[in-house]
Amino acid sequence: MAAAVLLFTAVTFACLTGNLVSGGRSFSIDYKHNCFLKDAKPFQYISGSIHYSRIPRYYWKDRLVKMYMAGLNAIQVYVPWNFHEAVQGVFNFTGDRDLEHFLDLANQTGLLVILRPGPYICAEWEMGGLPAWLLQKPNIILRSADTDYVQAVSNWFAVLLPKIKPWLYVNGGNIITVQVENEYGSYFACDYNYMRHLRTLFRLFLGEDTVLFTTDGNTDREMTCGSLEGLYATVDFGTNNNVTEAFKRQRRFEPRGPLVNSEFYTGWLDHWGDQHAVVDAQKVSRVLAEMLSMGANVNMYMFEGGTNFGYWNGADHDTRFRSVVTSYDYDAPLSEAGDPTEKLVAIRDVIKQFRDIPSGPMPPPTPKFAYGFVNLKKVGNVSSLLNTLSPLGPVESQYPLTFEEMKQYYGYMLYRTTLPRDLSQPTPLISPLNGVHDRAYVSVNGVFQGLLERDTALVTNISGRQGDTVDVLVENMGRVNFGSKINDYKGLLSHLILGKDVLTDWKIYPLDIDGAIAGGWPHSDSQKYFPAPEKEPSLGPVFYMGTLQPNGLAWDTFLRLNEWTKGQVWINGVNLGRYWPARGPQQTLYVPGPLLSTVLPNYITVLELEGAPAHQRVLFMDRHQLSATAGKS
Ligand SMILES: *[C@@H]1O[C@H](CO)[C@@H](O)[C@H](O)[C@H]1NC(C)=O
Ligand SMILES: *[C@@H]1O[C@H](CO)[C@@H](O)[C@H](O)[C@H]1NC(C)=O
Ligand SMILES: *[C@@H]1O[C@H](CO)[C@@H](O)[C@H](O)[C@H]1NC(C)=O
Ligand SMILES: *[C@@H]1O[C@H](CO)[C@@H](O)[C@H](O)[C@H]1NC(C)=O
Ligand SMILES: *[C@@H]1O[C@H](CO)[C@@H](O)[C@H](O)[C@H]1NC(C)=O
Repeated sequence: MAAAVLLFTAVTFACLTGNLVSGGRSFSIDYKHNCFLKDAKPFQYISGSIHYSRIPRYYWKDRLVKMYMAGLNAIQVYVPWNFHEAVQGVFNFTGDRDLEHFLDLANQTGLLVILRPGPYICAEWEMGGLPAWLLQKPNIILRSADTDYVQAVSNWFAVLLPKIKPWLYVNGGNIITVQVENEYGSYFACDYNYMRHLRTLFRLFLGEDTVLFTTDGNTDREMTCGSLEGLYATVDFGTNNNVTEAFKRQRRFEPRGPLVNSEFYTGWLDHWGDQHAVVDAQKVSRVLAEMLSMGANVNMYMFEGGTNFGYWNGADHDTRFRSVVTSYDYDAPLSEAGDPTEKLVAIRDVIKQFRDIPSGPMPPPTPKFAYGFVNLKKVGNVSSLLNTLSPLGPVESQYPLTFEEMKQYYGYMLYRTTLPRDLSQPTPLISPLNGVHDRAYVSVNGVFQGLLERDTALVTNISGRQGDTVDVLVENMGRVNFGSKINDYKGLLSHLILGKDVLTDWKIYPLDIDGAIAGGWPHSDSQKYFPAPEKEPSLGPVFYMGTLQPNGLAWDTFLRLNEWTKGQVWINGVNLGRYWPARGPQQTLYVPGPLLSTVLPNYITVLELEGAPAHQRVLFMDRHQLSATAGKS
């Protein structure tokens, strides 16, 4: 204990500079003087998190320049495995997935990189970045020494890490440190063999001298299970923690070396149904100043949050399943649309006191445009569009199959059967084992009857006649990204019971909605669809389409689906994400300007799952609305 007390004195907190001789390109830890050494000189990083997977490639440079101008000397970047290996063995590093281009832009901008390649990343990202195809092995223990899991990780790292190696600082690139796993100590498995295996892989592909580190929450248990010899242990904490206490915890595990807060929370995430999270800018600045004055290295999580486009949002499952909203604005210093905020100015004023920051103006916000209303018309209900949406047709099965068994990992899938008997009275359709993951929209002969929702609505009433078609459209709302429940299978995981009958003999239709829309549908055969908006909008899952006429501008805009209930929206074939204004808090969706055409019609497609408003139109506004809660639905 006496030794420990000594270590807590102010002296060992500071990064003391000795008589150091400058050498070639190097990056290392100086345990003697409690700091990082860059080219043999003491180095302190002031970093911000940015996720290239949440920003269109077109805007990467814009966001990086703004981070540089805010005074940062580094960025921290996650690599989401499932973004690059969506199909096992098929890798994509092009377009919005071009990691090396992103590293190159950061290097050109003068930003160093703290890379976090996982394989698990959390990040409020679908399944914490793990590919859902891992779940094809029914009892796989993710994030452990499970042989199939470890084999998949090894295959992935054999592709990823050789791409990373030339970008290491010592090799002429900008990557100074590399994180192993992520907050592993928060996970139940606490499997040192797994962590040792990762350490071996990183050493094998990146060399013995790369600074590898771990990041964990601020408790002894987390630090104990998350740290490993040879990996520098760092902590993460936000504005509500006592900074001295938090770094004391790091000192218990790293008695010497630099102080590092790998995730200092500038804001927080939102789930559907939450109040919009806000963290006070003055508080962020005050705690940042406190950490920097101790000589600590700080990464601000997030500095630029971005967007969970498509189906990439994650979810939490503590007391119940809670899905993360489409926006990942995070109340960060740069907004979802990349605009500098007051928080950025306050942070920059703090950084100025500790290092010379670039002179010159902060780049202005990108221009925004209110394109106004666009009327939509009905395309048809999902039940009537299966030829288009499910070209391969159904798989027949006595009992329901999961998304993973069907090898369709994201989006929506349709389960169809028939009523086993006449139901003249409303009869309960029950999900007895809470097996609807995550939301099911139930129709009988194409007429919407109600919905089931995981942990929330396990019964709905339906009626009809024997032999009527029962359609259950199931939505995957994003896999759990944190905790022990990350084996988050989707679809119907157990039987549905109607009255006393178990429903059987299913036809299960995989739906390639994104493929159809990317191929030009429904606009390519729009003459088939009703010319005018309907007076009586349909209930249940229905597609709508509309066209935003070009006006010569391709500026950022925000799409408001006022009085629409819940669904998914695409523009020019790009999946913008989920909307759910009825539950909130998010009310508008970010539409990056580069997605719009200045000369061609801009095609809008909406899948409304529950019910469109009487006036079927959407509104393009020039400001974001993330904080309204229009009552719970
Ligand atoms: C790879 O990802 C990019 C960016 O999302 C996409 O445009 C491209 O179609 C993908 N390539 C393949 C072969 O799927
Ligand atoms: C990174 O930028 C520096 C300075 O501009 C340059 O010398 C170096 O070649 C770049 N590294 C890579 C890997 O492109
Ligand atoms: C933080 O904890 C230390 C004791 O470790 C205490 O002296 C200090 O007052 C606390 N700071 C705040 C802001 O509560
Ligand atoms: C679904 O579409 C089919 C084909 O257009 C139509 O016959 C049916 O009435 C529709 N169902 C509802 C509830 O609108
Ligand atoms: C189902 O119908 C019964 C009676 O017909 C009613 O008491 C019950 O509240 C209904 N349940 C739901 C979930 O609508």
